[in-house]
Amino acid sequence: MTTIAVTGASGFCGSYVATTAAARGADVLCLGRRPGPVGRHIPWDAAREVPDLSGADLVVHCAAAVGDPVPGSPAEAAMHAVNVDGTARLLQAAGGRPVVWVSSASVYAPGPGRSRVAEDHPVGGHLNAYGRTKAAGEALALAAGAVVLRPRAVYGPGDPHLVPRLLSRVRRGLLLLPGPSVRLSLTAVENLADACLTAAGWPPGAYNIADPAPYDRDEAIRTVLRAHGVRARIGHIPLAAARTAAGAVQALARLRPHAEPPLTRYAVDQLAHSVVLDVSKAESQGWTAGRSLKDYPSAFRRAVPGVPPSSTV
Ligand SMILES: NC(=O)c1ccc[n+]([C@@H]2O[C@H](COP(=O)([O-])OP(=O)(O)OC[C@H]3O[C@@H](n4cnc5c(N)ncnc54)[C@H](OP(=O)(O)O)[C@@H]3O)[C@@H](O)[C@H]2O)c1
Repeated sequence: MTTIAVTGASGFCGSYVATTAAARGADVLCLGRRPGPVGRHIPWDAAREVPDLSGADLVVHCAAAVGDPVPGSPAEAAMHAVNVDGTARLLQAAGGRPVVWVSSASVYAPGPGRSRVAEDHPVGGHLNAYGRTKAAGEALALAAGAVVLRPRAVYGPGDPHLVPRLLSRVRRGLLLLPGPSVRLSLTAVENLADACLTAAGWPPGAYNIADPAPYDRDEAIRTVLRAHGVRARIGHIPLAAARTAAGAVQALARLRPHAEPPLTRYAVDQLAHSVVLDVSKAESQGWTAGRSLKDYPSAFRRAVPGVPPSSTV
């Protein structure tokens, strides 16, 4: 039986990886500060120590500090300790074992020009510590010969990030979005979990992972709102006004460095520009995404309520 070590198995994506691996017959080790949903818990604080990977045949690294912290805040330093230094510790412990390292499309340079993003798209110019530290962590993983997966905006039942944040933005039946609708790639959590468990044999390198086709932003958000029984109209604010508001909110947020700002330039960038991931490199390895947003209307209703939102996608 294959033994798979899954880091971040107490989190959203990692828990799907762990349960899917167990359902496929693997022995699962869950590394993190909290236990995962299945398997044996191996305590690990990525910010402090080298993990114990004894017995693992494969490592799937989902653990990360996610969010959009105030620049210069303690949360930013903690993010570096987990996403970069923690990766170095993991790779040191992995030795020659295959590693699948879950990255993010947030490593790609922001702004317009992402209407078809292949893996050689520029990485850099990040608007927050999340993008910067994910890029630095994946650079270490790539140098060590890992398979690096870049999903975008992972959604599904139990999502503690995207849906709660979206729903919290509805005010008096109105949801304001920056600029006109755009085309966006999203990644169903089942598609990511499947890729994590399929990719170990792929040639080392980076691979985009997303649903089979991109979505119209406003239509996708209407689908989510409807699935949650939320009656809301979508309104559009000019992109320049959204950027100015985000800049002002972020400047004020420096006065409260422990709280994430409710609006950031990163969040505006994520919503206002088309970002379509080209997944042909993963498909050339025989992988196909089986799920899409149309499978989810009822599943969304089971999303965990009351979990603090994060703007990191
Ligand atoms: N959700 C998305 O939309 C999205 C999109 C693109 C990429 N990703 C990537 O997918 C991965 C999983 O994200 P997620 O959405 O599942 O996030 P999540 O629900 O917040 O889970 C994060 C996981 O990281 C672990 N972790 C955080 N700090 C740690 C530390 N100091 N030591 C050990 N483990 C630590 C947490 O475990 P403990 O707290 O138990 O230690 C938790 O299991 C991340 O690499 C993220 O960058 C996510």
